Amino acid sequence: MAKKQDELTDHEYDGIQEFDNDLPPWWIYLFYLTIVFGIIYLLNYHVFKTAPSQEEEYRLEMAAAERQKAAFEAANAGSFVVAFSTEASDLEAGKGIYNANCLACHGANGEGGVGPNLTDNYYIHGNKIEDYVKVITYGVAEKGMIPWEKSLSKKQIIQVSSYIQSLYGTEPANAKEPQGDLYEQ
Ligand code: HEC
Repeated sequence: MAKKQDELTDHEYDGIQEFDNDLPPWWIYLFYLTIVFGIIYLLNYHVFKTAPSQEEEYRLEMAAAERQKAAFEAANAGSFVVAFSTEASDLEAGKGIYNANCLACHGANGEGGVGPNLTDNYYIHGNKIEDYVKVITYGVAEKGMIPWEKSLSKKQIIQVSSYIQSLYGTEPANAKEPQGDLYEQ
């Protein structure tokens, strides 16, 4: 068959005519390549399953992360324990943080106001350091307690928690009525 080069086809649309040339070789090879790729892909992932599917990859990665986490926790056991500080410098820093951020809702002496009284034995969210850190860090959006994770560092949160803890039992004037459950100290 003679190679058709620059031969006009017999149709014409709105004055536009078309040559009847062969497709360029690079285009045809690329097309064949996609077919070969498709076959290899199909055999690899769906017939012989020589490579893991997306779901299997996900499961494998999760399992690997699980193993890493277990190893990390085993290696660092005990080093994430937080505790109330009784250091004067921490309590002083905590007081500064409290007066700047918390006083408006919890009162100048922790007696409560918009927020609960922080000096009595009743707690809505618990009285362990972890409970304080959690409620201060994440807040209680629906009740109006602000999350502080963006504006206070972890250290500052522990300092202000320690300061609040130091206010326990101080019986300030105008104390707000108890809220939550009775907790042992
Ligand atoms: C805009 C008012 C507001 C500010 C500011 C605020 N709180 Fe609160 N806070 C609340 C309210 C309201 C609650 C009660 C949440 C609930 O009912 O679950 C609360 C609860 C708490 C609790 C839990 C008390 C319990 O009984 O379990 C702690 C601890 C606490 N706040 C500490 C802080 C600290 C520390 C700051 C400053 C860094 C702060 N709050 C600033 C309103 C505020």
